[in-house]
Amino acid sequence: MLSCAVAEDSVRLVVFLGAPGSGKGTQAKRLAISNPKIVHFSTGDSLREAIKKATLLGIEAKAYVERGQLVPDGTMIRLIESELEALKQVDTVVLDGFPRTVAQAEALEQSPTTRVTKVYYFKLSHSILVERLSGRRLCSNCSEPYHVQFFPPKVAGQCDKCGGKLIQRNDDKGDVIETRLAVYESQTATLLEYYGQSNRLITIDASRTPETIHDELARWLM
Ligand code: AP5
Ligand code: MG
Repeated sequence: MLSCAVAEDSVRLVVFLGAPGSGKGTQAKRLAISNPKIVHFSTGDSLREAIKKATLLGIEAKAYVERGQLVPDGTMIRLIESELEALKQVDTVVLDGFPRTVAQAEALEQSPTTRVTKVYYFKLSHSILVERLSGRRLCSNCSEPYHVQFFPPKVAGQCDKCGGKLIQRNDDKGDVIETRLAVYESQTATLLEYYGQSNRLITIDASRTPETIHDELARWLM
């Protein structure tokens, strides 16, 4: 487990909290491109990579991710612990998809080398979340997100950035979308209260354009 007192020169952690499809990944990627001091870490991207490579982590996580359930806390805390160890020289890490339970948030609070300074909550209605998730496509090579209606690629089925093939995530299909949204409500939404109590929570209206949201976040995270 992560433990001890926080050092003065600790890494600044900024948490992006929000339901599946609320735009966390889109914004975190843009921020990391626009500001060299910021590193983006997505637990979902990391798990999908591990599943693709069939590592021990991937083999354990596969069934949970495919069903839209959370991977057990112990596994996720070990993953974040090793990731943050590798990023200890970094100024700011945007955590996209972690924490997702109170146990994960408490583990983060115990870290001697990092401190959660701000938590941005991406607020969006259920109907827009479903629309965004069901229309999302991802580059199979560089993970750049697209949307069939809102952000189609210039050439159908092909990534504008690297030419990679666009795919649909298995958990963006059918009933799994509703399962993920229900899991968010039952296990993750409670973190709004958790971080609200320590005055670190900032709510973002995630229904606006990506550019407007990016400009706002970039100003705050300068
Ligand atoms: P993860 O990959 O983190 O998925 P998620 O939280 O379900 O979030 P998404 O990636 O689906 O949405 P997003 O908010 O990043 O939205 P995006 O920017 O892509 O996790 C996957 C799975 O891994 C979990 O279900 C779980 O099994 C496991 N897992 C991960 N972390 C875990 C943890 N800590 N503990 C336990 N298990 C864990 O945008 C969505 C779409 O909308 C895109 O098409 C995009 O182009 C579009 N869009 C974005 N912004 C806008 C906008 N402003 N206007 C219009 N369209 C927009
Ligand atoms: Mg994402």
